Amino acid sequence: MPAHTHAKRDAFASTLGAFAATVGSAIGLGNIWKFPYLTGSNGGAAFVLTYLLAVALVGIPVMVVEHVIGRRMRLNAVHAYGRVVPNQPYWSVIGWAGLVSAVLIMAFYTDVAGWVFAYVFKSFGAMVSGRTLTAETFGALASGTWEPLFWQVVVLAVTTSIIAAGVSKGIEKVTKTLMPLLFVLLVVCDVRALTLPGASEGVAYLFKPDLSKLTGAVLLSALGLAFFKLSLGMGTMTTYGSYLPDQVRIVPNATRVALADTLVSLLAGLAVFPTVFAFGGTPAGGPGLLFNTIPLVFSQMPGGALFTVLFFVLSAIATIGAMVSLMEVPVAWIVERGHARRTVAAVITGGTMFALGILATLSQGPALRDVKPFGLTFFDLFDFLSSNVLLPAGGLAIAIVGGWLVSREAFTDEMNKGHAEPPWYDRVVYGFIRFVAPVLILLIFLNSLGVITLA
Ligand code: PHE
Repeated sequence: MPAHTHAKRDAFASTLGAFAATVGSAIGLGNIWKFPYLTGSNGGAAFVLTYLLAVALVGIPVMVVEHVIGRRMRLNAVHAYGRVVPNQPYWSVIGWAGLVSAVLIMAFYTDVAGWVFAYVFKSFGAMVSGRTLTAETFGALASGTWEPLFWQVVVLAVTTSIIAAGVSKGIEKVTKTLMPLLFVLLVVCDVRALTLPGASEGVAYLFKPDLSKLTGAVLLSALGLAFFKLSLGMGTMTTYGSYLPDQVRIVPNATRVALADTLVSLLAGLAVFPTVFAFGGTPAGGPGLLFNTIPLVFSQMPGGALFTVLFFVLSAIATIGAMVSLMEVPVAWIVERGHARRTVAAVITGGTMFALGILATLSQGPALRDVKPFGLTFFDLFDFLSSNVLLPAGGLAIAIVGGWLVSREAFTDEMNKGHAEPPWYDRVVYGFIRFVAPVLILLIFLNSLGVITLA
């Protein structure tokens, strides 16, 4: 694995900055929107358990490989994978698939982020006029035409401008200051939710697994969510790895990121499910689950309306860190191909994402609701293709490249930078990368294709 050095390349300024930016990519709608929504539609605790195992056994090892290859190559994902194994340029396919995933994910992600932005204003309006937001509020927004499209444009414009401003300046500052606040607010939410009458049913739903609920589809969604959550399998973490300073210890950093991210997901689940049960709702509430639950949990609390506004403001900020990291994958590639300045690259990327985004957004309403290629709406199709197909497949290829094709010496040398001598876990992590992660991904794929039967 040839090491590259670039004199002028941008980078995160410090170890804390690198951690904050990586967490900023990981934490987003995946925690507060997708985790509760998928847990609810996949039967609860059995899904949560599978998800936690997927993060530990597959997610952390793949993140380590991405950071190692990214930092070693100091290149965008397409070029990093194209050059990391001598004489095997075709691995750049990982980076290409990553570009496709970034666009597919952003197409539906910006729709949901648009709902969050809209809810900042709606919850503020509700507070001022003393109303409560209801399921109808959400339904009207999501299935509308111009309103969700308008918010999608706002979201894309914000992200594009941050990207155009540059890596360290743009991303680090926002995330470092505001993520801790989101965390505190989630804890407030949890305390309120857990003290509602009937809350224990929600807790049991989240933590008492009924293993008969496990099916091939559930396993695949849990694996897909682990990739989506940790921004893996598509070059985001490779690109961020390329901005990691040398003193960052890759394995502890990746472990901390995964822990922080998982904690935030569980906190979101603990706010949502007790509330759902306390108010007699259904956990399988679909994509609107978060939007319908949060106003409810705060509705019976003094000053609750203000907390609802705050919740959506902080969530909006959390989505930005994730969207910036998604957009960074194509932008870094366009810029390093040498054909465009950052600003131009950001605008081209944002435009492409919007083009597909229109399809995803309109598929939530009457305009395109009934158009179902492969039996799925555009929104669900983009989600399924990226989370459940491209990201795990990318992760499999990444684990194979890192564990089998790159020389062990070069790999562990990069992984252990920042340590005086190889740490105790060196062999364990390498073993996970070579065997555990790729085998598990493969088994879950084969299982969901019906070739073997695990669940
Ligand atoms: N991890 C982000 C979230 O949970 C989404 C994401 C996926 C970001 C893939 C980058 C790459 O919201």
